[in-house]
Amino acid sequence: MSAPGELPDLSPLWMPFTANRAFKTRPRLLARASGMHYTAADGTQVLDGTSGLWCVNAGHCRTEITEAIARQAAELDYAPGFQLGHPDAFRAAAAIAELMPEGLDRIFFTNSGSESVDTALKIALAYHRARGEGQRTRFIGRERGYHGAGFGGISVGGIVSNRKAFSGALLPAVDHLPHTHLPRDNAFSRGQPVVGTHLADELERLVALHDPSTIAAVIVEPMAGSTGVLVPPVGYLERLREITSRHGILLIFDEVITAFGRLGAATASGALGVTPDLITLAKGISNGVVPVGAVAARRQVHDAIVEGAPAGIEFFHGYTYSGHPLASAAILATLDIYRRESLFERARSLAPLFEEAAHSLRDAPQVVDVRNLGLVAGIELAPRDGAPGARAADAFQRCFDRGLLVRVTGDVIALSPPLIVEPDQIAWMFETLRRVLQEIDAAAGRP
Ligand SMILES: Cc1ncc(COP(=O)(O)O)c(C=O)c1O
Repeated sequence: MSAPGELPDLSPLWMPFTANRAFKTRPRLLARASGMHYTAADGTQVLDGTSGLWCVNAGHCRTEITEAIARQAAELDYAPGFQLGHPDAFRAAAAIAELMPEGLDRIFFTNSGSESVDTALKIALAYHRARGEGQRTRFIGRERGYHGAGFGGISVGGIVSNRKAFSGALLPAVDHLPHTHLPRDNAFSRGQPVVGTHLADELERLVALHDPSTIAAVIVEPMAGSTGVLVPPVGYLERLREITSRHGILLIFDEVITAFGRLGAATASGALGVTPDLITLAKGISNGVVPVGAVAARRQVHDAIVEGAPAGIEFFHGYTYSGHPLASAAILATLDIYRRESLFERARSLAPLFEEAAHSLRDAPQVVDVRNLGLVAGIELAPRDGAPGARAADAFQRCFDRGLLVRVTGDVIALSPPLIVEPDQIAWMFETLRRVLQEIDAAAGRP
């Protein structure tokens, strides 16, 4: 074992979604965090432009949350969630239900976004079965969708690299809508792009192809984050809602990224005015401090499964850590901060300034698109010849070296800072990015 302060042996840890070999030749290690900043292991300050992985919405190391967890760990470290309970799990469920769109007030706890997605898919199947429509077993996802890394999530997801190695073992009855990225029509849109409502009509085609009686649910991210910030076209989600309702198909919004203030409201559903039947949650639910997720279900969906079942366990699903005391304490403390500090409203009022700053990069070198919604921006770069993703990866490293954490997917750079971000920090983030893009351009021009 290495001594404190020494670099540990990096080889035993197999890192997730990471270029392990490259990382281990040039590690980027974080040591501490506070507010808007990380402190790297070498002491440099890094402004968190991505809320960790889209989760630290209230900023880092909030004492209200860390103290609540410490108290809970000392008082009730663990309580089984099967056939037993503890009050804070029920309180946390009630606090979440209060933030959900009207009618989605039944909460099932998981430990991650991926588990929330699997849980929502299983709830959809159980719901139809309970109502005598057990033949509804098909799911419709969307190209470029990200729904976590479980088998359910990668089956309905549409990110090719996440699927191809496992393609023989995906869920059997899944089809996909086309993605909504139309750069020729919508490049440099501010907020929701105008063109693309018609892409929702593809659902009519899939419904006709498979017959509605075989389809359990449609799952989409209301705003796709991990694939590189795809904002829903005006009217698109409304159309999905209309078609699914007409055919008795459940609509699932995967709000693992968008819930808890990212779009200036408690949910994207609330921000965009479209209410699904199930919402998957994680990340900002606990400010990223304790791994936890949840599914919010429409009460009728819950009741069809729970009230309609014979005596005994109604839904054979759950996790050892569903409703964990530490997660419950973290949720309660986190939601309290969001409310007390009006952070969702803060995100909404900062959004126009954020949009302006993001679009100031329109004329920066190699920028082919800028898109934004709430406190999210995606800056797309032209790919290098024969090396897709290389230019954005270069930008990621150079930003980090200058003290800014950005997120990169392919050639898209995503920014989604904690909702406590200050206007001058927003300006600095985009100025830094511009300088980095100029530097990359200058380096490319050098012989
Ligand atoms: C929309 C969406 N769904 C699901 C997930 C998976 O969440 P987790 O990594 O907590 O399993 C993510 C993670 O980024 C996500 O963005």
